[in-house]
Amino acid sequence: MAVTNMLEDGEFDVQVWDDGIEVWITQMGSLMNMNTAFVDRENGIVAIIDPFDGKRWTQALEKEGLVPTHLLYTHTHRDHAAGYPGMMKRFPDLEVWGHEEARVPNLLAHVVFRKIDFTDTWDCKPDESVEWSAGNIKLTVTHSPGHAPGHVTFHGHGVYHAGDLLFVKSAGRVDLPGGDPPAQQRSLINAKKILSELPPDWRLIPGHRYDPYNNEIPDWISLGEVLVYNYFLAHITE
Ligand SMILES: [Fe+2]
Repeated sequence: MAVTNMLEDGEFDVQVWDDGIEVWITQMGSLMNMNTAFVDRENGIVAIIDPFDGKRWTQALEKEGLVPTHLLYTHTHRDHAAGYPGMMKRFPDLEVWGHEEARVPNLLAHVVFRKIDFTDTWDCKPDESVEWSAGNIKLTVTHSPGHAPGHVTFHGHGVYHAGDLLFVKSAGRVDLPGGDPPAQQRSLINAKKILSELPPDWRLIPGHRYDPYNNEIPDWISLGEVLVYNYFLAHITE
């Protein structure tokens, strides 16, 4: 079968959603971290989820006359926050968003987490969703702890960015410091509910491009497909 959607390292896929918001997706680094950005050109807003490499993001945006305005974090594991220092050096006025509980204690900070100075936080309870908007970008943010404290997912404009809650076939590990298996179980059950209610042709963007599907290792999978193919989504019950 032909390879249909495997991005090169640092290659960007750009699609314009029905409402004019651009959705930029790339994978970067040896762990193939997936990044999603939402671009509202009308209002000059660029919100990037978990940027891996600030320089490569900045260069790609600059070619289009764009600059980042918001960083949104699914969680603060070092690989997901890899681009943070470079981004802040270049754009010190960025709004930086994450969940309040992703402000991890110092004890854990040096091992798997990177300290991020959030300018703004969400503080919703596990499984609770809140709306976030900037210009015409409107996202639903869902607190989904388990893989890491304060982990959140984002959905809107045709995508569900899962972070390390879900990959194409599998789910995020719970054995790292701060991992919480029962919380992950609840978050997966809640994710199944959310995904079942979203349009099946929306794309699930995993935190990493890890899992094979249809003879490729895709950057994304449709929600309709992931609900059947993902081991956890297919089998999990309350
Ligand atoms: Fe992680």
